[in-house]
Amino acid sequence: MENDNSQFLITKSSYLAHEMKNLLAICNLYSEIMEKQIDKVKFQDQKTEASFKNAMMCIDRALKMTDNLLLDFRSMKDNQIEKCDLNKILDSALEMSKIYAQDKKIELTNCNKLNVNIYADENKILSVLINIVKNAIESIEETGEVLISTNEYNNNIKIRISNTGKPISKKLQEQIFEEGFTTKRTGNGLGLGICKQTLETMNSDLQLVKSDSDSTDFEITVPKC
Ligand SMILES: Nc1ncnc2c1ncn2[C@@H]1O[C@H](COP(=O)(O)OP(=O)(O)OP(=O)(O)O)[C@@H](O)[C@H]1O
Ligand SMILES: [Mg+2]
Repeated sequence: MENDNSQFLITKSSYLAHEMKNLLAICNLYSEIMEKQIDKVKFQDQKTEASFKNAMMCIDRALKMTDNLLLDFRSMKDNQIEKCDLNKILDSALEMSKIYAQDKKIELTNCNKLNVNIYADENKILSVLINIVKNAIESIEETGEVLISTNEYNNNIKIRISNTGKPISKKLQEQIFEEGFTTKRTGNGLGLGICKQTLETMNSDLQLVKSDSDSTDFEITVPKC
């Protein structure tokens, strides 16, 4: 399925703010978990405990300050395209995204059987994958599955992210890459457009392949090394 919204333009600052927001959410959620569990930790002495609690408070504060700084951020580095280990990236994407599924029963699986390298900016493709897996998790109400699978096609690698859950109606499928389109109460409607635009700057692509009662499948095409 072709979606021709390659004209989708996002300012560098909104790109950065959106991506950082996702990553900061991961830090905030893990920091909350640590805070909740701190009473179960046996510290060697009071000084160590105080120092640990202070470190956590500082992290919390720094995260909030970074959040604010992002609102005014204006510049961004160029792509760092290099040889990357595909499996390592897929594992990291699932590891980092699983915090979004903490209140649900979702099986997240990397079914990649390929032992290959790809040409990509590792951090950027990781952010793209986190966005897509986050959307997949958000589309599952309580229980479901998110699978990442891969295959080789000509000189490219196709990465398929597939999730169970409510499908996207045919009408809405035309709009999902548009800036500001969201069906979520707290969504910005920026994620998929940013992913598509980011991949295009790396000679890569993102398409919605299908969305029906079995699954919703997005596919990333990226050059193989
Ligand atoms: N895996 C999916 N299953 C069902 N619907 C999806 C899926 N991925 C995306 N969508 C639909 O596409 C819309 C746009 O997604 P997009 O990631 O661009 O924005 P968002 O998730 O709403 O907000 P944010 O900017 O915070 O990412 C979503 O609101 C949702 O309706
Ligand atoms: Mg999203």
